[in-house]
Amino acid sequence: MADRKATLTVDGLDKAIELPVYSGSMGPDVVDVRDLVGQGIFTYDPGFMATSSCQSAITYIDGEQGMLLHRGYPIDQLAESSNYVELCYLLLFGELPNDEQYTDFESRITNHTMVHDQINNFFKGFRRDAHPMSILCGVVGGLAAFYHDHMDITQPEDREISAIRLIAKMPTIAAMSYKYNVGQPFRCPRNDLGYAENFLHMMFSTPCERYEVNPVFAKAMDRIFMLHADHEQNASTSTVRLAGSTGANPFACISAGIAALWGPAHGGANEAVLAMLDEIGDDSEENIQRFINKAKDKDDNFKLMGFGHRVYRNFDPRAKVMKETTDEVLAQLGRADDPQLRIAKRLEQIALEDEYFIERQLYPNVDFYSGIILKAMGIPTNMFTVIFAVARTIGWISHWNEMLSDSYKINRPRQLYTGHTKRDYPTK
Ligand code: CMC
Repeated sequence: MADRKATLTVDGLDKAIELPVYSGSMGPDVVDVRDLVGQGIFTYDPGFMATSSCQSAITYIDGEQGMLLHRGYPIDQLAESSNYVELCYLLLFGELPNDEQYTDFESRITNHTMVHDQINNFFKGFRRDAHPMSILCGVVGGLAAFYHDHMDITQPEDREISAIRLIAKMPTIAAMSYKYNVGQPFRCPRNDLGYAENFLHMMFSTPCERYEVNPVFAKAMDRIFMLHADHEQNASTSTVRLAGSTGANPFACISAGIAALWGPAHGGANEAVLAMLDEIGDDSEENIQRFINKAKDKDDNFKLMGFGHRVYRNFDPRAKVMKETTDEVLAQLGRADDPQLRIAKRLEQIALEDEYFIERQLYPNVDFYSGIILKAMGIPTNMFTVIFAVARTIGWISHWNEMLSDSYKINRPRQLYTGHTKRDYPTK
């Protein structure tokens, strides 16, 4: 597999070290540095800026070209012609399903949407005003307590049923965390509804009145799920892999992923974008420029939320689809002139013409518009990251499954130690 070699010379070492260089099917070549350990040398790469932590065949991103492929298929084509359940199949199994495989997969998911009745008791332990992400983290981790019989992670069938359970139950638990928050009774899943439709039903229906899911919202929600489904080795997926590398059960691993996603630099950004748009308040030129200046000011912690990405240095292809979907939904709701959308568009325009953002290749990311669309659909801000977590579950579990299907080692980075050298405890 090594096509070429890299040669490393290190001051103080008497011979050069030869390291294999591998080429993937696309993307930059990688230097295999594992043999360095034998030479008493580690690599140093805080934030994994230049480190490939694994091999993967699931998702490919070309940050320069703004390209995102799932199993080779471009995200814009998938968003246009596929749906979330089909994408889940593709990510998990590697190929698009035929009709029979699709029907079977969808029915397996729908048959696992309900949670065990005792899960309801977990919720009572949370304060009513608990952030739904904290509830999600806790309850998903707690699922492990219910499935002892099918948690042999060395068995492909057990891994598959865990994946199905997680994909199926995440919307149910997410909607329950919202219902608990607003003090409404939990709604049972309806298996005659599609995945996104059912989620909206569990979020917004009450026992008191008939609730018809708006098909425009269902389609938009399905697309939001698709756009967030996977993004190769992002922070939360790497967290899931890291936890999984210890042999931890899938529910614990996904719970770890949810925790990592919660941060404002990752999945929490969609919530932060709305807070920022609220703070900006109006779309006057002067006002927006003030916030752009704040974002550029090194002495100010303020960042333009929904802008920038570790990998995308051109544009985020998900943001493009999200922007179009936002326009469609707001137009259909007769709210094309939504004040927050106006601020967002103006902010984007000004930032994209500003030297600071151009130089640093900072473009709107997927979260820049997702908050606006979610808000228009009546989703409260504190549920935005929860929805991201529901969508990303397939990515997390597909990566976890891929890792366990192959040979892997416990993920255990090393460090550049900068503390005290050995010293003796003072004798009294
Ligand atoms: N506003 C203002 N300046 C920024 C921003 C921003 N949103 N993002 C990056 N910069 C600046 C940063 O200060 C640095 O400037 P300098 O070179 O002068 O020190 C330069 O751009 C490079 O940024 P970085 O922080 O080194 O880049 P990173 O790859 O470590 O961070 C990021 C990527 C996404 C964490 C960061 O761009 C950010 O915090 N953005 C806002 C939060 C956000 O929208 N996150 C969602 C990411 S997409 C959804 C997901 O996948 O989770």
